[in-house]
Amino acid sequence: MRVDVVTIFPEYLAPLELSLVGKARQAGLLDVRVHDLRDWTTDRHRTVDDTPFGGGAGMVMRPDVWGRALDELLADGPARLVVPTPSGEPFTQRHAESWAGEDRLIVACGRYEGIDARVVEHYRDRLPVTELSLGDYVLNGGEVAALVVVEAVARLLPGVVGNPDSLVEESHGADGLLEYPVYTKPAAWEGLDVPDVLLSGHHGKVERWRRDEALERTAERRPDLLARLDVAALDKHDRQTLGRLGWVVVGNHLELVRPA
Ligand code: ADE
Repeated sequence: MRVDVVTIFPEYLAPLELSLVGKARQAGLLDVRVHDLRDWTTDRHRTVDDTPFGGGAGMVMRPDVWGRALDELLADGPARLVVPTPSGEPFTQRHAESWAGEDRLIVACGRYEGIDARVVEHYRDRLPVTELSLGDYVLNGGEVAALVVVEAVARLLPGVVGNPDSLVEESHGADGLLEYPVYTKPAAWEGLDVPDVLLSGHHGKVERWRRDEALERTAERRPDLLARLDVAALDKHDRQTLGRLGWVVVGNHLELVRPA
């Protein structure tokens, strides 16, 4: 897979040379190319921004500079355009899963008050475009989002994570639950013991305990995820556990009837 990142701070993307993503690049599983937007400016000062029409604070990135950059990159072939912005759709594991199956992403990192709105309007007619938010807070630019997207997508590419089983049971996986708590040696530490069931060697009981912990954690921390869960995937024991937590199946979804 190829990912082009366009930014006025190419050095910001240096962490993509480290760890699993760096190794994936070296192994040829992932081709990341970081570009300096200023390479597509035409003036002596390498200007990428200007004052907003209609007035107001801050500066807006010029569409002509972005247009030259994106047209040149797209001359290599088609891609999905990802534009990080706090007004985008929330980035989730579903985006990462879907994009891991695509050939190419271009991440356009805005700075200042953002990119002239005509850029997304223009390219929407030509390629798939996603305006994407990391969450309900404001960052200084899209570079951190580019790091997040590349890492989340890269680890789903075949061969990047050594043991693919570790992708199966993690939070925000297909079952829609948060991950159960994990423990390792020593079995006793600072007066805290690992739950007995995990030392029992009883595989069925371990599985059940982990499932109950995942349900309980999700109910406590992310009730919004439970409310969206596919109830067809819940067995009798799941429903009993959820019932103790105050959640019942109503029609084809879960409802909180009584705070736990
Ligand atoms: N740029 C600035 N804030 C952002 C956010 N929350 N998500 C994605 N890109 C951003």
